[in-house]
Amino acid sequence: KEKKETFHIGFSQCASDVWRETMNKEMVMTAALYPDIQLTILNAEENTRRQELQIQELINKNVDLLIISPNESGPITPIAEEAFNQGIPTIIIDREINSENYTAFVGADNTQIGKDVASYIANMNNGRGAIFEIRGMDGSSPAKDRNSGFMEVLKKYPDLKIKESVEGKWLPEIAAQKAATAFNEYDFDIVFGHNDVMAQSARRVADSLNINNLFVVGIDALPNLGMELVEQGVLQASFIYPTGGKKAIEVARDILTGKTFQKQNILGTSVVDSSNVTVLRLQMDQVMAFQDILNRQTSRIKEQEIQFNDQRSLLNVALIS
Ligand code: FRU
Repeated sequence: KEKKETFHIGFSQCASDVWRETMNKEMVMTAALYPDIQLTILNAEENTRRQELQIQELINKNVDLLIISPNESGPITPIAEEAFNQGIPTIIIDREINSENYTAFVGADNTQIGKDVASYIANMNNGRGAIFEIRGMDGSSPAKDRNSGFMEVLKKYPDLKIKESVEGKWLPEIAAQKAATAFNEYDFDIVFGHNDVMAQSARRVADSLNINNLFVVGIDALPNLGMELVEQGVLQASFIYPTGGKKAIEVARDILTGKTFQKQNILGTSVVDSSNVTVLRLQMDQVMAFQDILNRQTSRIKEQEIQFNDQRSLLNVALIS
């Protein structure tokens, strides 16, 4: 039987902020290393219904493998299960679905991150303070898990309490509105934003109301976003939340080529604060510079391939005539 030449991977991405663009880029760059992989990315722009339709569209296109980052866990579960039950290998990335019916998961442990954030805040504030928590979208698993991990560890610290918790839906504009209301109503010592852009929003609002001495913590720590905010003192800390884009393509290829793979691929995290941000940023700058060289090399090779193929067809034409 003839071996299949190319694998078509369809990726259903839920939103298009900087973190998501980083994930897409990682996938595109990793896929470019394999000539037998074709990658299609559809973006639902935070619209769960649209994501369902896009997953259906990828199924209809007969993709060989699906990668899904679900906007909301509940509503995306049935269509993800449907794909899996039809025999399409399905990788869930970053946000989870409410089912075990998938081929592999790639992402960090958000309950653990929530716990780490609480321990860190407790250590840095002598176990006391009034916290303002800005949650992600309640229907998405990282928001639920970050909140529950956070609350679990806070139980150990009677003088460290959540005074107000709001749903910021991962979005800086919504976080800003809710922060304005909360800051007018209560006094806080600490802000925990479930991601850096919401934490940054809260800081802006606090600045505009002349509220000082806030200890602000976020999550994601992208080199040109969260890490920079920590360097500038806008955030006191952020936690690295790896996108898993590269890993997802590697796992996809292992699945497609019949290699062994793990169902659970849990990615690590780490705190970024004033104690390590300078060295981390320097290292990230170097990594990104190399990344850039690699990218340019990959496109050079692609160009040469095209030139080579053109010349070969010219040669064929010449030989035939
Ligand atoms: C991006 C994002 C990140 C967050 C992740 C959780 O869309 O909101 O900021 O860490 O999603 O799924």
